[in-house]
Amino acid sequence: MKHTDIIEIFSNKELIGGEVTVCGWVRTARNSKNVAFLALNDGTTLNHLQIVIDKAAGFELPEQAGKLGAAIKVIGTVVANENNGGVEINAKEITVLGECPADYPLQKKFQKLETLREIPHIRVRTNTFNAVFRVRSVMAAAIHRYFQDRGFVYVNTPLITGSDCEGAGEMFKVTTIGYSEDYKSAEEYYADDFFGKKAGLSVSGQLEGEVAAMALGKIYTFGPSFRAENSNTVRHVAEFWHIEPEIAFCELPDLIELAEDMIKYIIKDFMEKCPAELKFFEDRFEKGLTEKLLNVVNNEFAVVDYTDAIELLKKADVEFQYPVEWGCDLQSEHERYITEKIYKKPVFLINYPKGIKSFYMKQNPDGKTVAATDLLVPGVGEIIGGSEREADYDKLIKAMDEKGMKKDDYSDYLDLRKYGSVPHSGFGLGFERIIMYCTGMSNIRDVIFYPRTVGNIR
Ligand code: 4AD
Repeated sequence: MKHTDIIEIFSNKELIGGEVTVCGWVRTARNSKNVAFLALNDGTTLNHLQIVIDKAAGFELPEQAGKLGAAIKVIGTVVANENNGGVEINAKEITVLGECPADYPLQKKFQKLETLREIPHIRVRTNTFNAVFRVRSVMAAAIHRYFQDRGFVYVNTPLITGSDCEGAGEMFKVTTIGYSEDYKSAEEYYADDFFGKKAGLSVSGQLEGEVAAMALGKIYTFGPSFRAENSNTVRHVAEFWHIEPEIAFCELPDLIELAEDMIKYIIKDFMEKCPAELKFFEDRFEKGLTEKLLNVVNNEFAVVDYTDAIELLKKADVEFQYPVEWGCDLQSEHERYITEKIYKKPVFLINYPKGIKSFYMKQNPDGKTVAATDLLVPGVGEIIGGSEREADYDKLIKAMDEKGMKKDDYSDYLDLRKYGSVPHSGFGLGFERIIMYCTGMSNIRDVIFYPRTVGNIR
C-alpha cells in the first residue's frame, strides 16, 4: 500500500502544499458541526498527525473513521498549521481499513501500567510503549555498533544447553517426555530423553562465549537468557535479553574500562537519536532524567572494593532489612544504598567473596575473594555482572569441586584451560535493566514486549 510515513510528513517540509496518502490508527476524534479532527498515529513517531475534515465544505467523516483505534487511510493535502508551527492534513478521501468497536481497551487517555500489562497486544499502541520499543530498537543497534566498530565478533551461542553457567540451579528444563511413572530414576528418565541427558534453557551464553573468545579474541553475544528464579521483583523476568562480551588477553581493570565506555556510548547514542522519547520519559516517568544521564556520560564511575562497601554499609545510619556482614550476598537495599546514597552515581563493586560468586571467576591471591565486578546504578541496582575468568586448570577444578559441580558437564570448558589458556574476562549486561535506567520505567515488565514472570505467560 503506497503511503508516506507520518514521521516523514513532520520532517519533510517539501511535502507542504502537496497531496499525500497516510495510514494509521485513530488516537482521538473530535467531531463538531462544521469540522472534524482526527489524531492519527502510524507508529513511526510519538507525534500524532492531525487530520482535518472540512464538513462546511461538504465533506463527511465516515462514521467508523471517528472511532478510537480504527485503522484508516487518508488522502489529503499537507498544510502548515499556523497555531503550532507544525503540519496537518486537509482530508480529501478517507477509507476505513479496519473498524474498531467500542470495547477497544484504550478508550481512556491514560491507563495504569498495571492495567496495560494485562493486554500486551494492545498496550504497544500507547505512547508509552511506542517510546519504549523505539528506544529498545535504537539501543540494540547502538550495542551492535559499539562492538562491531571495535572489532568484536558477534557470536550466537546455543539457547539449549547441557551445562548451567551460573551453577545456581535456575535452569528451565528442556524435555520431550514430561510427567511419566515409567522411569525409576532421573538417570533413566534423562537417558531416554531427546538429548540422552539433562538439558535446559541457557541462563547465559558465557561458557560458549569463552570458547569463541579463545579463537576470535573479542566476541559478544546478544540474545535471550532464561532464569527460573522464583523472584517476583520489579527487576527480574524469566526471559531477558543479555549482552555478553568476552575478551581474550583482558584483565579486570580492562574489563571495567570497556563496560564504562560501552554504557556511556549507549546512553549518548540514545540521547542523540531519541530526543522526543527522552523528553516524554522525563515528563511522564522520571523528572531529572536528562540531567541524570548527562551526569553519567560526563563523569567517571566509582570503583569500590566489596570489603570497603561492607564497612560503609555497616556504618550507615539506616536499619537494613537484611543485616550486613563480610561474606554476605548484597541485597537490592544494600546495592541501592551504595549507589544512590553514598556515591550518587554508577559504581563498579569489585573483589567479591568467592563463596557468593560463580565457579569460573578468577581467584585473587588473598584466597578469599574473586576478581568479579557488578555495576550498580541508582534506581535500578545491578545492571552488569562480570569477572576476569579463572584461567588456571587446577584452580578451576578445585573451585568446581568446592561447589560440588559435575565436571563431566564442563569438559569443553575445562579444555580451554588445557590448550593455550590466557587471561580473559567478560560481563553480562541485562538489556532490560539498561532500558529501565535510561527511560525511568520502574518495572522491568514495562520494558519488554511479553514479560515472562512467575505464574504469568500468554
Ligand atoms: O550477573 P549475572 O547472573 O551474570 C552472568 O550471567 C554472567 N554469566 C555474565 C557474564 O559474565 N558473561 O547476569 C548478568 C546480568 C545482570 O547484571 C542483570 O543485568 C541481568 O544479567 N539479569 C537479569 N535481567 C532480568 N531478569 C533476570 N532474571 C536477570 N538475571 C540477570
